[in-house]
Amino acid sequence: MTARHNKYLNIDDLRNAANRRAHRMVFDYIDGGADDEITLGRNTSAFGAYDLLFKVLTGVKNVDMSTNLLGEKIDIPFFASPAAGHRLFHTHGERGVAKAADQAGTIFSLSTLSSVSIEEIATLTTGPKWFQLYVWKDRGLVKEMMDRAREAGYKALILTVDFPIAGNRERDPRNGFSIPPKVGIKQAWHALKAPAWSLDYVIRPSVKYANLSKETAAVSLQDFVAEQFDAGFNWRDAEWLLGEWNGPAVIKGVVRADDARQAVDLGFNAVMVSNHGGRQLDRSAAPLDVLEPIVDAVGADAEVILDGGVRRGTDILIALALGAKAVGFARPYLYGLAAAGEAGACRAMEILTNELRRDMVLLGTDRVSEINCSHVKRR
Ligand SMILES: Cc1cc2nc3c(=O)[nH]c(=O)nc-3n(C[C@H](O)[C@H](O)[C@H](O)COP(=O)(O)O)c2cc1C
Repeated sequence: MTARHNKYLNIDDLRNAANRRAHRMVFDYIDGGADDEITLGRNTSAFGAYDLLFKVLTGVKNVDMSTNLLGEKIDIPFFASPAAGHRLFHTHGERGVAKAADQAGTIFSLSTLSSVSIEEIATLTTGPKWFQLYVWKDRGLVKEMMDRAREAGYKALILTVDFPIAGNRERDPRNGFSIPPKVGIKQAWHALKAPAWSLDYVIRPSVKYANLSKETAAVSLQDFVAEQFDAGFNWRDAEWLLGEWNGPAVIKGVVRADDARQAVDLGFNAVMVSNHGGRQLDRSAAPLDVLEPIVDAVGADAEVILDGGVRRGTDILIALALGAKAVGFARPYLYGLAAAGEAGACRAMEILTNELRRDMVLLGTDRVSEINCSHVKRR
């Protein structure tokens, strides 16, 4: 990362820079949500309903932000949630984000639909890695991907369950967005307004789903998911999957306490409270608004991770105070990646690390484990 990236003072600065550099269809794919984007907005605004109650004269000296997640010691209580196709946003792609997570001392999670392969990312850094799974109709492919992830050393499996079909993200069809992208008149016109992204895109190897052996046609995400993913996957299938994986497992995309409890009873070790960043069912509850009942339902039997809407160190404090063990996010590092490649993803991690460190001092605490419900009040 160079000093010039210090001009990005917060995640919103990186978002604006991503909007300037990336092709419109790419920025909108990252930034957008389902239907009227009500849930997308609420995921972030939910944090505004809480006030922090800082403690004074606690003599905070050395802040230690480290914690343990599924037995993995990480330097900060947040990590990179999975996201598809990073090379579409910048040629550094998943390679850049995996290095950014490693440098920050935290977990990188690789999406099923990544644009760099399971094996390549595994060898790139020594940092901890999790593999995120979507359930293909072809169960042979599901098993093959789990085997590949296990052999490559991914420590945990994240099963995403809020994605039986793709949500209605209207920005994408308006922009004629497909993966890999098709270039028509509208896309060519927008490409002229994003020269750095366009040059990058044209001179680099084409972007594809790197974990699939077959080339896929340029179709909308909706059509791809409807054709390939198993919308009928249920709790019994999840039990089968846990048996096949036979290792630490995270369920991602839960907003109900009863589902969280059922998942833990089935054998999941962590619950990611998430609505896919407002990209699936619009008007679904914001993760923060359902965090406490889920923490209560799960108790000490599993770890709870909040995912969605985090843009500030204070958001992380609020989530931890309400009982989350850690938080995950995608857009903050994706904005950084789209704005400035690996250096931008590193800057996103650095911004949130610096904010959290400062905020912990101001809150009057030097250990993540000390942050509790006394530090927060619903307004
Ligand atoms: C561009 C983009 C692609 C995503 N791809 C995936 C994916 O492949 N698998 C997955 O489980 N979640 C995916 N997500 C959801 C994220 O993992 C995460 O749940 C969500 O973005 C959290 O909200 P935040 O972006 O406000 O942090 C994606 C999110 C974005 C923005």
